[in-house]
Amino acid sequence: EWYDKLNSTNTCMRERFYSESKFSNGLIIAASEQTAGRGRQDRNWISRPDTNLCFSLFIETDAPLIEVPSLTMAVALGVVEMLVPKGIRAVPKWPNDVLVGNKKICGILSERVNHPDSQRSGIITGIGLNVNMTTEEAEAIDRPATSMLIEQGTASDLNETLAAIFEPLQYWIEQWEKGGFPAIRKTWTEKAGPIGKRLKVRDGEIIKSGLLAGFGDHGELLLETENGIETIWSGDVSQ
Ligand code: BTN
Repeated sequence: EWYDKLNSTNTCMRERFYSESKFSNGLIIAASEQTAGRGRQDRNWISRPDTNLCFSLFIETDAPLIEVPSLTMAVALGVVEMLVPKGIRAVPKWPNDVLVGNKKICGILSERVNHPDSQRSGIITGIGLNVNMTTEEAEAIDRPATSMLIEQGTASDLNETLAAIFEPLQYWIEQWEKGGFPAIRKTWTEKAGPIGKRLKVRDGEIIKSGLLAGFGDHGELLLETENGIETIWSGDVSQ
């Protein structure tokens, strides 16, 4: 479902999930413009109207909260794969970004929903993919950002770009549905690795540094520090 203007596709989907009795698994809500786009850690997600892809996907699942981050990781693999035929070499960045040469091209925000009456539950995954963002717009963002336009040199049609994501997204989500993070771990680790690379992870005021030791069964990051292997469930990673 395409809308010209919404506050946030995630918020709209969440409200509809709780208010509508019929709510389809696989529903996608996309908006040409979001007036209150949301990012991780209560950040805003700002995107010029008709420029980038802002959409949310509903996945009906009773997977517990601990599995939500790894669904986000599966979605990131889908986005990475969709960019390959466009000549864009992207990599997933733990826990929820897709980067091209250390610049962010896509952010993902997943939220679990649980209907108290119908017992239906699922995950709303919101995807913001920079499609036609210009260099000037990217430079105005406080973190390194890029877009398909910047990487390819040509503008892309938003409908076609959205359609191109469906198949890889469906493939990686199916892998996750069948086997959780272990089913996507090999590809994720190959693309987000290599194992042994030096990382810094900031979670609020706490910064930990060490070597990437791998990813646990729920997608948690394993960091080899001087205190041994530490399990990291959230944070911002830099090299
Ligand atoms: C992040 O990198 O912090 C996550 C950004 C997620 C942005 C998308 S745009 C579509 C969907 N609707 C929202 O309000 N947010 C997500």
